[in-house]
Amino acid sequence: MASTGFGWGKTILFGEHFVVYGTEAIAVGLDRGITVTLERSEQDEGPSDEHADAVKQAVQIIRQAAGVSEQVRVLLIESALPVGQGTGSSAALSVAIARAIAKEFALALPEERINAIAYEAEKFFHGTPSGIDNTLATYGGAILFQKRPVHPDENRIERFLPGKPFWLVIISSGTRAATREMVAEVRLRRDRQEEVFSQFCAASSRISSQAHQVLLSGDLDALGELMNLNHGLLVGIGVSTVRLDTIVHTARAQGALGAKLTGGGGGGCVIALFPDQDSAVAAQGHFQAELLAAYTVRIGS
Ligand code: MEV
Repeated sequence: MASTGFGWGKTILFGEHFVVYGTEAIAVGLDRGITVTLERSEQDEGPSDEHADAVKQAVQIIRQAAGVSEQVRVLLIESALPVGQGTGSSAALSVAIARAIAKEFALALPEERINAIAYEAEKFFHGTPSGIDNTLATYGGAILFQKRPVHPDENRIERFLPGKPFWLVIISSGTRAATREMVAEVRLRRDRQEEVFSQFCAASSRISSQAHQVLLSGDLDALGELMNLNHGLLVGIGVSTVRLDTIVHTARAQGALGAKLTGGGGGGCVIALFPDQDSAVAAQGHFQAELLAAYTVRIGS
């Protein structure tokens, strides 16, 4: 009998990259994700497409982390998330596989275990991940996250409800980048400029904790300003591109209260904040007319 599992997509509102070094970050689950269907099999197998090998490796890591010795075949991956666009597709896939395996083998795994198991696969995909992506893929919603250096079980995970709903337009730059490489590049830059980098970490941390307060109080103007500041830091550490910057500036000109790249950068997506659905949908239409993939998500309550 086949079993299915689901993992949420996510977008990082504040603190990507710096979160790898232990500073606070804020992310929200999207209203979409990835569903995986799998069944027991003679050998581990991914679906027969370009991602087959990566999926098979993820399955093996997840199976072992869950203590399952029987092998599985992934029959179907239904994804509403583009790959390599900063919306957490690999983490959503890992969580979906972990949940499907738990269901298939009737393991009563609590959410924390699903999260920890998916983190093992994230290490395979991303090298030195902070754990924010798998956490969001597991829980969805809005989360303040902080990596604890010793053990992922001790990560700070504070779930909260924004004081007021808001609308994000997620605009794809149409180019892909590997998070693993972007994180490695940032590490090299940090090693060369350790003192300056630590100031950037402090600023990112400050932005995230202020943003947390502002999200709770519902002050969207302040939230937008903090997003703009956060984008400046990401430009500073070299993870933006001309294309991402152009989209950020266009979004602001379209009435966004703030805009920034989200996730690993180097390509992927920009998120732009709007106070109401009409202005968000109008901006979405503007980007679509420029042939960029864009969609609107409502965050909160
Ligand atoms: C990728 O979605 C977020 C990064 O901060 C990497 C990580 O936290 O593992 C760039």
